[in-house]
Amino acid sequence: MNGDFVANARQKLPAKLLTEWLPRLKLGGGNALDLGCGTGAEAEWLAHNGFTVDAVEKSPIMAQAARERCQGLAVNVTLGDFLDFNFERGKYSLATAINALPFVAKDRCRMLIEDIQKSVAPGGAVILAVYGPDHAWANRADMSFWTKDEFATVWPDWTVHNLEEFRGDLPLMSGETIFQHRIHLVAQKP
Ligand SMILES: C[S@@+](CC[C@H](N)C(=O)[O-])C[C@H]1O[C@@H](n2cnc3c(N)ncnc32)[C@H](O)[C@@H]1O
Repeated sequence: MNGDFVANARQKLPAKLLTEWLPRLKLGGGNALDLGCGTGAEAEWLAHNGFTVDAVEKSPIMAQAARERCQGLAVNVTLGDFLDFNFERGKYSLATAINALPFVAKDRCRMLIEDIQKSVAPGGAVILAVYGPDHAWANRADMSFWTKDEFATVWPDWTVHNLEEFRGDLPLMSGETIFQHRIHLVAQKP
């Protein structure tokens, strides 16, 4: 991971999907989980908005950047693979993962989503961004891609507030632009 990549990633603003939707959910704070937190833009924003955040990141350089960014805030950054994370049942009022779940194969992703679902308390919510099958990286077997309809089926008992897809040339954190197909989900547990 080169210096430009990390420098770009440090500048990243919190995802609009999170900042626009969270206030509408009126969750009132509590514990939040941020999987694949990168340099901590979302974790920092959540802490400033009343949440105590568990953030998980497997890249040491990104985890360190997240720790620096979130210093003094109620953010606990764990360096590690979120596939190994100890998901506590019902701990979180919010679980988020912005463009991070695609980086595990589909079968692992399904299991991960079950863990996320268990770890969210009744009335809590998920705000997730995953990739769709038209994404430039869609031939990678070590990643996961969902159609919008397929992703909807994973949340049968949840109230889906928002399920949208976007296609277009979008920048990566490296600054490189590639064709991306993104699926955004906001759902609340009954
Ligand atoms: C596209 S970046 C998004 C970062 C951040 N969520 C954001 O929106 O700025 C994906 C992040 O997920 C992390 N990641 C990917 N697979 C992971 C895994 N298995 N465990 C923990 N972190 C992971 C990567 O290191 C990277 O920082």
